[in-house]
Amino acid sequence: MGEMRFDNQVVIVTGAGRGIGRGHALLLAARGASVVVNDAGGLPDGTGNSSSPAQDVVAEITALGGKAIAITDSVASEAGASHIVAAAIDHFGKIDAVINNAGIYLGQAIDAFDIDTFRRHLEVHVLGAALVLRAAWPHLAITKGRIVNTMSASIFGMTPYSAYISAKGGVLGLTRALAVEGRPAGIKVNCIAPAAATRMMFAAMPDLSEDATAHYKRLLPPEAIAPVAAYLAHADCAVSGECLAVGGGRVTRYIIGETPGITRPELTPEIIRDELSAIMDTQGYQLWPDTESLERATT
Ligand code: NAI
Repeated sequence: MGEMRFDNQVVIVTGAGRGIGRGHALLLAARGASVVVNDAGGLPDGTGNSSSPAQDVVAEITALGGKAIAITDSVASEAGASHIVAAAIDHFGKIDAVINNAGIYLGQAIDAFDIDTFRRHLEVHVLGAALVLRAAWPHLAITKGRIVNTMSASIFGMTPYSAYISAKGGVLGLTRALAVEGRPAGIKVNCIAPAAATRMMFAAMPDLSEDATAHYKRLLPPEAIAPVAAYLAHADCAVSGECLAVGGGRVTRYIIGETPGITRPELTPEIIRDELSAIMDTQGYQLWPDTESLERATT
């Protein structure tokens, strides 16, 4: 049980020009990985673009003796996602892991949201991850690769972020679906729910004092997320279809369960009303099935 190294491993990290993704890229490169640093370099709401965030992280990695290339396409475009994967193959010859981390974030009330903004959230978080994975999948099947998607604690509820949280719900679904789909090929698919003091977190708290900002930065450094992503991206990863939450040194598991509930062949609305407490009772609940039993159930 030695150090978990990534020598001769190739990892794609999307959104790696800043914040949490930068932390992933630096840790993986320090442990020997060749890293494809993808970042379109836009604003927190997903508008705009710049090549410097990705290039700066690549410069940081190479200055430390690591191997990395910068790709500045958007994951949300079909051509961009294909280019990210093609660049990994052209430069490094294979793909061992994909960390889908690119994300955008804008709060808008449900009765007043802007359609383009809502759509952009789904396109970056869900479709972007799916497009990168569609292109990378045949390569991951060769290496028995790993996939790490990026979910969020916001699925427990937060306002007014319906576009963002809808997208993160999609990421959870994508993770569960691909964990089952990837099992025959030995591909493991998990997600993380990070908490880190990045520009995204501060975008949600514009009126924070300097002291409070400094406090969050000390408590929740973005680099503190990378150990969990690196574990899930490593050949030694022992789980699939799971979601690990991480921030400030704490790591937990998110679970979805099902209560024993009731079974009545002739259901009526009144039965639901009268037996609601039995339906809601969590005693004897079961966790979501592991992906192995789901695969058996569907084949
Ligand atoms: P950040 O804004 O610092 O970094 C996100 C990076 O993704 C940016 O550099 C941005 O240019 C890039 N990006 C955005 N759209 C892109 C696209 N279409 N193609 C390529 N790159 C793109 O934010 P942070 O906090 O580092 O977020 C990383 C991930 O973690 C996101 O998926 C976010 O939703 C998730 N997350 C973060 C939390 C936090 O506490 N910071 C909490 C829960 C989830």
